[in-house]
Amino acid sequence: MGSSVEVVRQKSIVVATLNRPDKLNALNKEAYEDLERLVDVLETDASARVLIVTGSGEKAFCVGADLKERNSMNEKDILVRLEFVRRLYLRLENLPMPVIAAVNGMALGGGTELALACDLRIAADSAVFGLPEVDLAIIPGTGGTQRLPRLVGPAKALEMILMAKRIQAYEALRIGMVNLVVPLGRVVPNAMEWAEKMLQAGPIAVKQAKAAVKQGLEQDLEEGLRTELKSYKACLYSKDRLEGLKAFKEKRKPDYRGE
Ligand code: COA
Repeated sequence: MGSSVEVVRQKSIVVATLNRPDKLNALNKEAYEDLERLVDVLETDASARVLIVTGSGEKAFCVGADLKERNSMNEKDILVRLEFVRRLYLRLENLPMPVIAAVNGMALGGGTELALACDLRIAADSAVFGLPEVDLAIIPGTGGTQRLPRLVGPAKALEMILMAKRIQAYEALRIGMVNLVVPLGRVVPNAMEWAEKMLQAGPIAVKQAKAAVKQGLEQDLEEGLRTELKSYKACLYSKDRLEGLKAFKEKRKPDYRGE
């Protein structure tokens, strides 16, 4: 992995840290490519069961696309980059494991969009979210116009997008954009605690629960219920389900193998 994204594994938890603190973790080509390499690995690595994405430093999670790099790109380059990042965030969102954004500070533009592509968001009380693109005469182009309204509803999303409005962590919590707000020093530890909790559950169940929710959100209720049944069946025929019942009977912790 290159130096723009630092990746550390602790048991089955992978922590990816955007690592350009002097540039407030702005995303340049190298950072995107590092993230792509990570997603390449995680899509097929069953030993990785939770991903945490965070930023280095105390100021910013990620302030979006590297605007200095953007300055040297023509329209075609930008479109190619946009397509790359849109695909990357979609793959990140659809990873077969929960993805937690540990938002340690400012999340602007592509930084907010990155957090939105994660399943859960824990924010520092100092964090700020915003989609400043219209002030740059563009629109959010890596999912912001689509994921934000799905998460908080069209009114709040449009309020933020049309006026490039920045919101503080507690406002983000109030509108349902983040799951939890904690002091800065607790952001990653809290994400680790959530990850540890998920590691105790049946691996197939966690994976299928995420898939059912994600797929169902794009379907009507009847189709969504069929999706749920498909995911349920993937658990039903697992050894882990039998182990769960056995452990309950024997009053011990289950030993799930993801089988
Ligand atoms: N791309 C590239 N570099 C960026 C950047 C970005 N999006 N945002 C900040 N930086 C760099 C600054 O250029 C500066 O580097 P330098 O010292 O080499 O010049 C460094 O990060 C620190 O930023 P600075 O502006 O000095 O910090 P600040 O606290 O005064 O302001 C922001 C922080 C985030 C409010 C301000 O940098 C900003 O508005 N950035 C643009 C964010 C944005 O619009 N992102 C959306 C892109 S679509």
